[in-house]
Amino acid sequence: MENFIQQIPKAELHLHIEGSFEPELMFKIADRNKIKIKYKSVDELKAAYNFNNLQEFLDIYYAGANVLLTEQDFYDLTYSYFKKINEQNVIHTEIMFDPQTHTDRGVKFSTVINGIKNAQDKAKEELGITSKLIMSFLRHLDEQSAFNTLEQSLEYKDWITAVGLDSSEIGYPPSKFKKVFDEVRKQGYLVVAHAGEEGPPEYVWEAINILDVNRIDHGNRSLEDNNLVKILADNKIPLTVCPLSNVKLRNVDKIENHPIRTMLNQGLVATINSDDPAYFGGYMNENYSAVANALDLSKEDLYQLTLNSFNSTFLEENEKVELINKLDEFYKNNN
Ligand code: ADE
Ligand code: ZN
Repeated sequence: MENFIQQIPKAELHLHIEGSFEPELMFKIADRNKIKIKYKSVDELKAAYNFNNLQEFLDIYYAGANVLLTEQDFYDLTYSYFKKINEQNVIHTEIMFDPQTHTDRGVKFSTVINGIKNAQDKAKEELGITSKLIMSFLRHLDEQSAFNTLEQSLEYKDWITAVGLDSSEIGYPPSKFKKVFDEVRKQGYLVVAHAGEEGPPEYVWEAINILDVNRIDHGNRSLEDNNLVKILADNKIPLTVCPLSNVKLRNVDKIENHPIRTMLNQGLVATINSDDPAYFGGYMNENYSAVANALDLSKEDLYQLTLNSFNSTFLEENEKVELINKLDEFYKNNN
């Protein structure tokens, strides 16, 4: 099974590039930029990765991102992620970035996106990995800040496929961002939103009915509402589920109780993703392995989850077919 997981061609749909910032690279970049980190060593930093909830994680995640200053920093961060997923046979990825985390510190929007885009181009050329970019608004900031960020993005519209909503969930419902997402859609972007990670099913309803999302990030708490499950299943709205993240942030008490199998059984288009792999103990393969082992998933289950991912990408239909053919070819020879 481990070989199967390693080799099956995969797509990642829920990944915060700032969450792929490995401690070793963080220290290297901090050094280069002459910024002091409050931890003395990589080991001391890693020891702090013990979270009781989403907010405790976010506090450390934003502190880590503070050392990123130059285009080279964003390039190095992004290309390191590509090298890692290349080893794991991820052939397509849709990367989220949080511009406000950087622009609020005085880093230019152009610095962030140019660094990321150069790494995407290089990954396509050198590794054959295709990718899309999702710009996420921080929901703990106000709607005006999101509008300002949207405005700054327009110059780079061709590089950005979708706009998302992330950060602290409870107390910041999707409805708070109705106006800005109306404009986001008017500008031609697709829409995703974190919902039902810590927040209640009502936030998932709002993401669907008010933001008109194309996918839900996480969505775990949808399972508390049968009517919502039916809407998600009937409309084939994908959930980008992140098993190790759910355990690390204590939204699921242990991996054996992860709801991914229930999601599949209820006809939901669930997919497996890593969220913030540098903080949560693993990239795509570690997430696949964790649920496969704990829930005794079959190769067919893993094939279904992977097929769901490719079907849920923001690629053109013909591009999807090409990647699904690769998946099917692999499955035919390894089942
Ligand atoms: N930003 C980075 N990771 C996140 C998560 N798991 N939930 C909300 N916002 C995030
Ligand atoms: Zn996330």
